[in-house]
Amino acid sequence: MSTEFDTALLGIDAASAAALFHEARTAYSFTDQPVTDAQLAAIVHLLRWAPTAINSGPLRVSFVRTPEAKARLLPLASAGNQQKITEAPVTAILAADTDFHEHIELLAPGALGMKPGFDDSFENRNGFARFNASIQAGYFILAVRALGLAAGPMAGFNNVGVDEEFFPNSPLRSILLVNIGYPSAEAFRERSARLPLDTVTEYL
Ligand SMILES: Cc1cc2nc3c(=O)[nH]c(=O)nc-3n(C[C@H](O)[C@H](O)[C@H](O)COP(=O)(O)O)c2cc1C
Repeated sequence: MSTEFDTALLGIDAASAAALFHEARTAYSFTDQPVTDAQLAAIVHLLRWAPTAINSGPLRVSFVRTPEAKARLLPLASAGNQQKITEAPVTAILAADTDFHEHIELLAPGALGMKPGFDDSFENRNGFARFNASIQAGYFILAVRALGLAAGPMAGFNNVGVDEEFFPNSPLRSILLVNIGYPSAEAFRERSARLPLDTVTEYL
């Protein structure tokens, strides 16, 4: 396992860091090995403790597992993503709850003063929900990896169509699909480069 940093700097064991970050890959195809509902629940148990603004936690997850539910999702995915969804044991629809502010009293009593601003403006709470749910989508991918599973995130789908099909008359707005399963032998594409640190960082 090669790294470009000193693994002695890690606060977790090197194998775990590798499994979460630098050795983990995006999976594009999967084996038949099933993923259990207990594993899916564990993903959400983990990610919900990771931070969001005013502890809003606006991410909502719909696990699409049955052939019937897959058939509803498939035509709404871009052509290049359909085969991946067909093969994956589970495809999660990640959505932002634009009515997250209804839970502020429970989740962030100290921030209750912000609720009227959200009550009054869909634009405010939509932007807030999408930003924080997107952060949670990143946590979701890492939680999938922490379970020893592979994730295949996909933004290529008809968001409005998914919302109409899965969330009619609902404040949920889909943001990302994530295939979940055990990677097949052909699961990974060639690894692409990452930008060098001096391009993406500065020290002030
Ligand atoms: C938000 C997001 C959206 C993505 N959308 C798609 C997609 O629609 N179709 C696809 O084949 N891959 C998609 N990907 C996969 C990325 O191209 C892939 O994760 C990236 O190239 C890194 O690959 P690696 O983990 O193997 O290094 C998406 C990834 C993310 C995080």
